[in-house]
This record gives sequence, C-alpha cells and structure tokens, in this order.
Amino acid sequence: MLLDRVKSLDAILATAEKKGLHRSLGAFQLTLLGIGAVIGTGIFVLTSEAAQKAGPAMMLSFIIAGSVCAVAALCYSELASMVPVSGSAYTYTYAVMGELLAWMVGWALILEYAVGASAVAVGWSGYFVGLLKSWDIIVPTALAVGPTQGGIFNLPAAAIAILVTLLLILGTKESARFTAALVLVKVFALTVFIILTLPVLNGAHFTPFIPNGWGTYGVVGAASSIFFAYVGFDAVSTAAEETVNPQRNVPIGLIGSLLFCTIFYLLVSAGAIGAMGGDPVRSAAGVVLAPGSTELAAQCQAIVASGANEPLVCSKEALAHVLRSIGYQRIGDLMGVAAFIALPSVVLMMMFGQTRVFFVMARDGLLPEKLASVHPKFKTPHVVTAFTGVVVTLAAAFLPVGKLADYSNSGTLFAFAMVALAVLVLRKKDPGRHRPFRTPAVAIVAPLAILGCLGLYLYLPFLAQMVLFGWGALGLIVYFGYSRGHSHVGRGIIEVHETDSDAPPLPVPPMPGAPTPGGTQA
Ligand code: ALA
Repeated sequence: MLLDRVKSLDAILATAEKKGLHRSLGAFQLTLLGIGAVIGTGIFVLTSEAAQKAGPAMMLSFIIAGSVCAVAALCYSELASMVPVSGSAYTYTYAVMGELLAWMVGWALILEYAVGASAVAVGWSGYFVGLLKSWDIIVPTALAVGPTQGGIFNLPAAAIAILVTLLLILGTKESARFTAALVLVKVFALTVFIILTLPVLNGAHFTPFIPNGWGTYGVVGAASSIFFAYVGFDAVSTAAEETVNPQRNVPIGLIGSLLFCTIFYLLVSAGAIGAMGGDPVRSAAGVVLAPGSTELAAQCQAIVASGANEPLVCSKEALAHVLRSIGYQRIGDLMGVAAFIALPSVVLMMMFGQTRVFFVMARDGLLPEKLASVHPKFKTPHVVTAFTGVVVTLAAAFLPVGKLADYSNSGTLFAFAMVALAVLVLRKKDPGRHRPFRTPAVAIVAPLAILGCLGLYLYLPFLAQMVLFGWGALGLIVYFGYSRGHSHVGRGIIEVHETDSDAPPLPVPPMPGAPTPGGTQA
C-alpha cells in the first residue's frame, strides 16, 4: 500500500501541546502580519507582466486570483489551527493523507518557497538597477538580467540571495518594530502611487478593456501569474496557535489582509494603466509576445532604441516607471528606494519558509538528517540554509522574474489544493476532533478552492505546468530511491519533539507585544 503511512495526528498534536505558546495576537496584528508577508514583487514588478497578458482587464485578474486565495485561506486556517506545528501544508498532509502525498506536497513547497524567493530577488534587482540608473550608475545588461533577456546573469539578484542566505545562517532577527515599519513603507509607497496616478487617469487607456481575451495569454492567464502577488498569506493561518479567539480572529486576519491587498492591487493597477496605458506589446505579425520571452525583450529594446518611452509592459520596475513617466522623477526614485528596502524581507521570509520545510522533512527522515543539523554557535540550520541559498541564487541569476513566479505558482497551487482536500478528508475521517477554527460552508468552500487552484494551474504557461510534473517525477525518484527506506514513520520511530523548535524560530516575531513564535510554522 502506498498511502498507508500516516503520521499520527495525536503525536503531532502532542508536540504542539508541549509548546503552549501564549495567545496574544488579535485580528489587527494578524491582518498586519498578512499584509507584510503578501505585498512584494507581485504588485511592484509583475504588474507589467499581467498588463502584457490582460491589458486593463488585469484588474479582473487580481480579483480572480484573490478569490481563489480567499477560499484556499479558509481551508488553510482550519488545519493550521488544528495542527499548529512546523511544516505547514507538508505536516497537515502527512497527518491526513499519508507520507507519499505529504512528500509530494513538501517537494512542491520547494517550488513555492525557494523558487518564489528567487522571483522576489529578481524583482528586487529590477528596482535596484533602475534606482542606480536614476543616479547615472549603469549596470551593464550582461550583468543586470539573465540569458533569456539578453544578459549573461543577474548579478544584483544573485547578490541579494547570497546576502539573505548569510543573514539566515547568522540567525539575524528582524525586530518586530522593524517588521511593522516595513509594512508601513510598502503601504505608504502604494498609497502615494495611488494618490499621484488616479487624478491623471485617462479613460481612453482602458479601451479595449480585454485586448487578448480570457485564455493563457489573456485575463485568466494573468490571474494565474499574478496569483504570486497573494502568496504569503499562509503566514496568518500558521500563526493561529498564538491567536486569541482563533475562530474569530484568524478568518478576519486572513480575509482582512487579502481584502486589503486586493483593494490596493486594484487601485494600483487602475492607476498604472490609467496614467500611462498598458497596451500589450505584439510581434510584427500582431501576435502578443509572452512575458519573459526573448522576443518580448528584443521588441522592448527596439521600442526604447527608437526613442519612444518604455511601455509599462516592458518595465522591470513598473511602479517607479509609471511615476517617472508622468513627471514624478524623484518620487519614482523613492518608490525604487521603498522596494529596495522592503523586498529583501519577503525574500527572507520565503527562504526561511523553505529551510523550515526542509528541516522538518529531514527530521522525519525523508531527507538526509545531516540537513537538519544546527550550527553550534549560530543555532541555525546552516547546512539546509546554505543548500537553499545555492538553489535560490542560481535560479535568481539565470531566470526571469515572471517565469520564476509561474514555476513557484505551479507548486503553490498544488499545495493549496492538497490542503483543501485534506480538510475534506479529515472532516470525514475524524469529524469529532476539536477544531479551533472551522472552515465555513466547507462542502462548498473546499471544493471551490480545489477547483480554483486547478483552474489557475491550467491557465499557467505550458512550461510552468510541466515544471510541476518534471519536479514531481524527480520527487518520486528521490522518494522511492531514498526517503521511503529512511522514513522514521516507516521504520516505526515515533517522536514527540520537546518544543517543536529544535526547528529554529521564525526570524520575524509576529508583532510588537507578541511572544517569540518558537513554534510558528513555515
Ligand atoms: N506575494 C509575495 C510577493 O508578491 C510573494 O512578492
């Protein structure tokens, strides 16, 4: 039997109970935590890629992606509040649907976290290069973008990935105040953007509203890519255990932060399109060019070389570019500064999430236990962090941001769908178990989440879909070649970890006044 190895939910819960974290987070802090984790490269950078696919209708794309996240988030919170231990979707699946599927989810989470971190690093690089340019420091194309964009490798993206890796190995902790300040920087920057662009909105820029239809290179395809802009909200559900009255506050925090981000995203995209227009760039034959493609990069270069202003869809620092294009040169630069300051913390959160999942998988025996070793001085899982850092750095150096985000989305959508399925399975298998938070109307919400994830997956570019399959096939080879034979559950070893935080703590304490989240999941 392949699906027989289920980790005992009671053993997992015994671990969680030993932690006994103080409940102190309220709805407001949870909402802030969600906003901090969510706003990043998606809105700051991928807006241009979404415009290339959907044109002005990218506002619809934001609504579609946000709705799928909302139903997935409601499912996430039920399991997060029931199984509040490290490992996120991987742990939930292990307890509910067995080791093989858990392995596949953990394997897919590598796409979400590690590849996602690379995407944010590349997004950061676009703003950094633009900022330097505004100070007349030109980073040569060869070192500013990867090979598919006409460069050799993306030096700034690789550098920030290495820097974040070193910080994680050293165990640098951001202070709660600093985390809250970064949320403010991001929200303030987006607010300024909205205030400056909405008054110069030109209605003509909204027609045609849906230039490319609804397909993969149209509205739904843009939703599948811009889904990346919402990733990270699981930070809220994983803080369920430290929340006062989770039944009420977790959904408020989740839906509140998603709603807040959706409204901001809608206003920002309306402002960007309305102020400068977002017509997709086409080939000479009138075909819409794929974001991240060599052809689009070449066409964009040709437009700029002709002396025309760079179109929104070509920009690697979309929001700063819009502001500069409508005459706010210095404020555009400041937008670059805001991205420069705030995006590395998103890279850090995602890389941390990755190390945490690797750590728990290694602790379960599914990956070599050497990976879970903790540095004697820094008390961080240095081996797994360095390994993650190498992967993130290489991906960031050579691949474009949109492709990385799409690959990340394919893994995330799979993991979210599995979580929704796990909620349904557990309701059937173990209906009487205490659920601090229950997904409302689960018979509708969970299937909607599964279908929504599947739908977005089907509208990802073909290559991104195949990445999940290729990666999954590799995962199966590793599982049957190594993990199945070494699994602690398979070998009958049942552990209850004293505090769950022989996994190192989250580097970002939730919010001022909150306890140190020693056991907050990845
Ligand atoms: N949602 C995060 C971002 O857009 C991952 O950067």
